[in-house]
Amino acid sequence: MSVSSSKQRKRVFSGVQPSGSLTIGNYVGALQQWTREQHHYESFFCVVDLHAITVPYDPAELRAKTREVAALYLACGIDPAISTVFVQSHVPAHSELTWLLNCVTPLGWLNRMTQFKDKAARQQADSVATGLLDYPVLMAADILLYQTDVVPVGGDQRQHLELTRDIAQRFNNLFGETFTVPEAMIPPSGARIKGLDDPLAKMSKSLTESEYHAVYLLDPPDRASKKIMRAVTDSGRDIRFSDDPEKAGVNNLLEIYEAFTGETREAIEAHFAQARGYGDLKKQVAEVVNAALQPIQQRYRELTSDGHFIDELLAQGAQRASLVAKATFARARENMGFLMPPD
Ligand code: TRP
Repeated sequence: MSVSSSKQRKRVFSGVQPSGSLTIGNYVGALQQWTREQHHYESFFCVVDLHAITVPYDPAELRAKTREVAALYLACGIDPAISTVFVQSHVPAHSELTWLLNCVTPLGWLNRMTQFKDKAARQQADSVATGLLDYPVLMAADILLYQTDVVPVGGDQRQHLELTRDIAQRFNNLFGETFTVPEAMIPPSGARIKGLDDPLAKMSKSLTESEYHAVYLLDPPDRASKKIMRAVTDSGRDIRFSDDPEKAGVNNLLEIYEAFTGETREAIEAHFAQARGYGDLKKQVAEVVNAALQPIQQRYRELTSDGHFIDELLAQGAQRASLVAKATFARARENMGFLMPPD
């Protein structure tokens, strides 16, 4: 194996689809964690554009969002000097390995995926793309190409991670030791921000939601405040962390406050014991959120003011990622019995 594909440190791989706009939920559930973990692992952070085309989409928006998501990774603290940031479709081995893995993945495994069933149910049955069913195999290819040890993802991706492990083990059994079997790193439940308009559902970045569903990382302060001030609560006045579904709205606001201040739950409840009702809570949540978003937005504007900077960075990232991906792909191909292609 070449030096570039051998591991100095344990590897992390994760990605976000360039569909919709990144929310404070993505920040707390993913980017905050990635930013922390990049110092402990050799990290690959991918903008998974090939996943974004598994449901109907607009090409111009895909192009814009791919750059936007990459720039937001950096604006949120991913350091390209220590982590590899790249676009999935720039490294063809992702698509190529998907085909090989398709042929070791029983169809029954994919038919069981709950995310597929949910997403398919939201479309006309006769227009659901084959790629939507195959989505988890592409995700397995993403992860396995980098011999990934740890995958930081939200709890909703647990089943996809299990499938990735199953595919890796099946491949290794059939064709000999080829892939590292990865572990999921799921953040604690407090890192799962819910919709402001529907505090029982995960905050989603898809644009089909109502205007008051999510705070986007690029929302100007007045818009972010307005959304938070309109958040669904209950008719009581008790400001406490709680898993009672009736109190889900207030609990969500408190968890947002917790994620953005890093204070303990005891300190937060003590702090709000004197608050004058939910209006006061919301106002303070809006303040801490806007205080955190301001530097992210400032950095985003700097990164995107030079039209080429992000594209150049992504070109370097793709080069670095390719070194590792190509080595794994070559091994998989050889173990499966393919002739090495002529140069
Ligand atoms: N399916 C993931 C999500 O929706 C995105 C993703 C694609 C991903 N490939 C990945 C996450 C590989 C981690 C690792 O969140």
